[in-house]
Amino acid sequence: MRSSVVPTPTHCLLSLHSWSSLLTNLLLLLLVAMTRMQSRVEAELDFGHHSNIELRKYMRYVNLRFPNITKLHSIGESVEGHPLLVLTISSPVHRHITLRPHIKYIGNIHGNEVVGRELLLHLIEYLVTNYGRNRTITRILETTVIHILPTINPDGYERAKVGDCTSATGRYNRRNVDLNRNFPDISGYQEKLQPETRAVIKWMQSDTFVLSASFHGGAVVVNYPFDQRQGDLTRIAYSKSPDDDVFVFLALNYSRSHFNMHHSVNCFPQERFKDGITNGAAWYPVRGGMQDYNYYHGVMEITVELSCCKFPTARDLPDYWQKNKKALINFLLIVHMGVKGLIMDERRRPIANARLNVGERYVSFRSSKYGEYWRLLLPGTYILKVKATGFVDYMSQPFRVRSREIYRMDIMMTREESASRALNGAFRGSNQGEATGHDVAGASSTVTSSTEKLPSQTQVTLKMSERVSIAQITTANCLLVTWATFLTLGSHL
Ligand SMILES: *[C@@H]1O[C@H](CO)[C@@H](O)[C@H](O)[C@H]1NC(C)=O
Ligand SMILES: *[C@@H]1O[C@H](CO)[C@@H](O)[C@H](O)[C@H]1NC(C)=O
Ligand SMILES: *[C@@H]1O[C@H](CO)[C@@H](O)[C@H](O)[C@H]1NC(C)=O
Ligand SMILES: [Zn+2]
Repeated sequence: MRSSVVPTPTHCLLSLHSWSSLLTNLLLLLLVAMTRMQSRVEAELDFGHHSNIELRKYMRYVNLRFPNITKLHSIGESVEGHPLLVLTISSPVHRHITLRPHIKYIGNIHGNEVVGRELLLHLIEYLVTNYGRNRTITRILETTVIHILPTINPDGYERAKVGDCTSATGRYNRRNVDLNRNFPDISGYQEKLQPETRAVIKWMQSDTFVLSASFHGGAVVVNYPFDQRQGDLTRIAYSKSPDDDVFVFLALNYSRSHFNMHHSVNCFPQERFKDGITNGAAWYPVRGGMQDYNYYHGVMEITVELSCCKFPTARDLPDYWQKNKKALINFLLIVHMGVKGLIMDERRRPIANARLNVGERYVSFRSSKYGEYWRLLLPGTYILKVKATGFVDYMSQPFRVRSREIYRMDIMMTREESASRALNGAFRGSNQGEATGHDVAGASSTVTSSTEKLPSQTQVTLKMSERVSIAQITTANCLLVTWATFLTLGSHL
């Protein structure tokens, strides 16, 4: 629906060149703002089950209402053509800020497990309406990029039934595939990739996530990798990952921040979870799960089971929100621990896709397209190993991670050619440049990012958040016009 008097976003740039239409825009905006300010200060979201159309409408509404701190995009489509919408929340959201970590929350991968889907909508509301009002939330938005995908299985959701606590109706996607068994498996096993799965994989390739959680129902527990054991795929036994210490810490933080998950909520008499957490394979092995896929691709993901009843009635939703709110917020805060930094070449240009390992932890992770890396670590002493195509392998000095701090370490890699030139030079006994006499393995060096004026190997606490200038006036005006357009069109969107 379009109104002829309202400038549309596509007219926006043109209108900026015309004073009269700019004035019209501003007047319109003022009018709309004045009427709206009184009635709506908050984004409004009721505690109810939201259909796919309502969910989409709400996400668009938030995006238009909070254009400076939200970005909306679809990562693909379900089999039946529903967009898979992600709302990105950060301040500012429209440009990349070096070393700001990205976190994702995914709901409703099983279409009939709906509590996460609704909680994520409420989390969106909580974050956007508390930004600039609540210090904790403001700090989260100014230090973190949060991506929220409330449903990855909208087709399954449409088949599921309110009040159906236990059946599998609506669990699968439109082609009857369990999406949480559809991810490429480390052993090479692979079902035919579904569009929803492919969308997540593509999304993970386009952005570098540090931390992630996926929300389910049918139990009340946090489940962490591995979900299966290599070579013995069906054995029910603890399958310890090399980052088990970190995963247990993450899982415990969620369960302990939750109202009662840590007291072991037993949905079934035989099912007990000490402290409200479990290793995946120790509970039941899962093949092709999203969690292990994430971990093997550099993202630390946990799986959170939110409710005994998979599709509770709407009147239970406020209670689930109250029980999980703190845990959902704390999980966003926890990303600032361990080590982070930049991988660069000798001319300080970022090296993307470098492969990193912490000490003997064999699951690696990669630098982002901006050369950034992050890894969550508990307090202790570690070394970092870096491999990048065309560069000499690098191994850091031991560094110490302290509690609730993040260790900053930038690494300058040495090109193989320059290393071999240095080597040849050394053999010839010449005296060119500073490389002479260095041994090749030691040619790489740790450096400091000049822009942040940090001494080499400095502890950077959360308080040192990145400060940035705000969007330019012209952009702001365009956004405002967009916003005004939306408000005028009202419920037609
Ligand atoms: C977005 O940011 C600009 C620049 O600071 C500001 O003028 C504008 O009011 C903000 N818009 C909204 C909707 O908050
Ligand atoms: C700010 O938000 C945090 C996190 O949700 C909450 O614990 C705290 O009580 C809020 N502060 C105020 C003053 O409302
Ligand atoms: C969880 O982590 C947050 C962020 O580090 C911290 O503030 C909170 O105290 C932790 N809570 C528990 C119960 O471990
Ligand atoms: Zn599930």
